Amino acid sequence: MTRRSRRYGILLGGLAACLSTLFLAAQLTAQEAGKSTEAKEIAKKEAAPAFTHIGSAKCKMCHQTAKSGAQYKLWQESAHAKAFETLKTPKADEIAKKKGLTVPAAQAPECVVCHVTAHGKPAAIRGGVKDDEGVGCEACHGPGSEYQKLTVMKQLYAGEIEPATVGLIEPTEAVCKTCHNEKSPTYKPFDFKTFSAKIAHPVPKAEAKETEK
Ligand code: HEC
Ligand code: HEC
Ligand code: HEC
Ligand code: HEC
Repeated sequence: MTRRSRRYGILLGGLAACLSTLFLAAQLTAQEAGKSTEAKEIAKKEAAPAFTHIGSAKCKMCHQTAKSGAQYKLWQESAHAKAFETLKTPKADEIAKKKGLTVPAAQAPECVVCHVTAHGKPAAIRGGVKDDEGVGCEACHGPGSEYQKLTVMKQLYAGEIEPATVGLIEPTEAVCKTCHNEKSPTYKPFDFKTFSAKIAHPVPKAEAKETEK
């Protein structure tokens, strides 16, 4: 059985888990109606986001050797790692000015939003990510606080854990298109297959079909 087909098996399990969570949530909401405001505040805090961004530098230690596929190096050499730097160029400022923005591009939320990881997310979710890293690993893979653990990573790779339960996002075409769309002032028509090939960073000896859709 392939890794991916195993993954669909656990997807079903995950779905069941999600449904029961929803059911539980509904029960909790009903209970909460009777609670004091203070208790509600506590409940709200406990429901704080489970997954926080840790920054691409934290992925480096396990994803930098040739043996593991040198994902960090490949990313660092890609346009994504330089996306924030790009906003500091005269060309970027020119584009910002033409759009009627009164601050340099690197300070304009209208530009930064697609040029860095997790822009505008609450501090509890954005975590330690700095704009400087540009479009980092977690911009596509999701916040890494839970899945960064070696045991979890290995289980994910073996298809033993449903990715979403630990915050790992499958970087589908839809994920790319949150940034690669016509709101980009320099929009180039986005083709998932060719664009994915340009940023490919597979684990060596991994099933080659994994990068194809
Ligand atoms: C403690 C070491 C470690 C850290 C830190 C780590 N990883 Fe991994 N990761 C692994 C290992 C081991 C694998 C399994 C593949 C392999 O053997 O190279 C893996 C696999 C993956 C996979 C494939 C998962 C799958 O479902 O097939 C992705 C995506 C990934 N890592 C992304 C990240 C990102 C993004 C970060 C930082 C937020 C990160 N990793 C941090 C060790 C690590
Ligand atoms: C958070 C926003 C964001 C996401 C998500 C994103 N990108 Fe990008 N991408 C950018 C930005 C910004 C640039 C331009 C960086 C620069 O030139 O400074 C870029 C550039 C690229 C380039 C280089 C284009 C060129 O003309 O050289 C490729 C290829 C690419 N992205 C592929 C992808 C793929 C494939 C995905 C999804 C798996 C993806 N991107 C997801 C923001 C994003
Ligand atoms: C909707 C997401 C998005 C927004 C908003 C956005 N960008 Fe980008 N930017 C991208 C992507 C994706 C690329 C890669 C090429 C492409 O498809 O546009 C890019 C590429 C660039 C490039 C390099 C293009 C080249 O050909 O050299 C510059 C410069 C740039 N953006 C400046 C800006 C400025 C300035 C703003 C704000 C006015 C901005 N961007 C807002 C997504 C965005
Ligand atoms: C622009 C989006 C994007 C960024 C940024 C990105 N990845 Fe990925 N990554 C992908 C896509 C797309 C795949 C292929 C997913 C699949 O096979 O279904 C992938 C796959 C992987 C895999 C699994 C490869 C395999 O053979 O199974 C690992 C490991 C990984 N990425 C680690 C990283 C690390 C570490 C970083 C940062 C240093 C990073 N990625 C940055 C989009 C991205």
